[in-house]
Amino acid sequence: MQDNPIGIFDSGIGGLTIAYSLKKLLPNQSFIYFGDTKHLPYGEKSEKAIKHYSLKIALFLKSKNCKAIVIACNSASAVAYNHIIKYITDIPIYNVIDPVVEMIIKDCTLKEIGVIGTKATIDSGIYKEKINQYCSEISVKSHPTPLLAPMVEEGFFDQEISRSIIKKYLTHNSLKNISTLILGCTHYPLIKDEIIKFYNNQLNVIDSSEIVSQSIFEDLKKSKLISDLEKPTYHFIVSNYTKSFEKSAHFFFKENIKLEELDIWV
Ligand code: DGL
Repeated sequence: MQDNPIGIFDSGIGGLTIAYSLKKLLPNQSFIYFGDTKHLPYGEKSEKAIKHYSLKIALFLKSKNCKAIVIACNSASAVAYNHIIKYITDIPIYNVIDPVVEMIIKDCTLKEIGVIGTKATIDSGIYKEKINQYCSEISVKSHPTPLLAPMVEEGFFDQEISRSIIKKYLTHNSLKNISTLILGCTHYPLIKDEIIKFYNNQLNVIDSSEIVSQSIFEDLKKSKLISDLEKPTYHFIVSNYTKSFEKSAHFFFKENIKLEELDIWV
């Protein structure tokens, strides 16, 4: 069990930011990554559709003997986590929201927090609900930024077009006076530098990838599930092949990765 792969999924390349930081902490661990490029973007889909896609992928990863599953997508974490844990009860299922909330509620000292994410994540109100449950005095403001994930997926970053879209979203009234910004979508670490630059380095920008992987690492350690493989394998599966996915997987994982197209819905 200890050397079984960890399953990770997202709608596309966003979850690679989590997979990459997990790989740094777990160098002897094999991974199976599923990018549901056929149904991207999740953030625009109904709750019913996100639950349906997410559960199907989680069951698929479980059938591949994964010892744990990481929902490396905020939209699926917000909408489908509770659904998945009803069906899969014998291995740990990790979402990308709880570790960030846990870090924030440790001392409740932050005053005005902004959250950006897909429509599905922002409409769910999950960050506000979870943070205010423990720290009612923190004001949690949010704004949906639906163009950012497809923009990143298409490889548009650090260009005039990405800077204009980022500016348009971040100057929105609902994000006024924040002192911290949560990047509530796993695609956003790829544009983190542009976001930091937009705020002239004056804002605390929370990128969940390291927080989430550290928390998963600690939990696996506690459960004695740290793998010790000499030659771990990295298996990437997409429901619809895209050049940009292949490029990003190579960018993050360097070594000879195995990329397979598999439509688990047919
Ligand atoms: N990376 C995803 C997230 O964290 C979803 C982007 C999308 O498919 O809309 O929400």
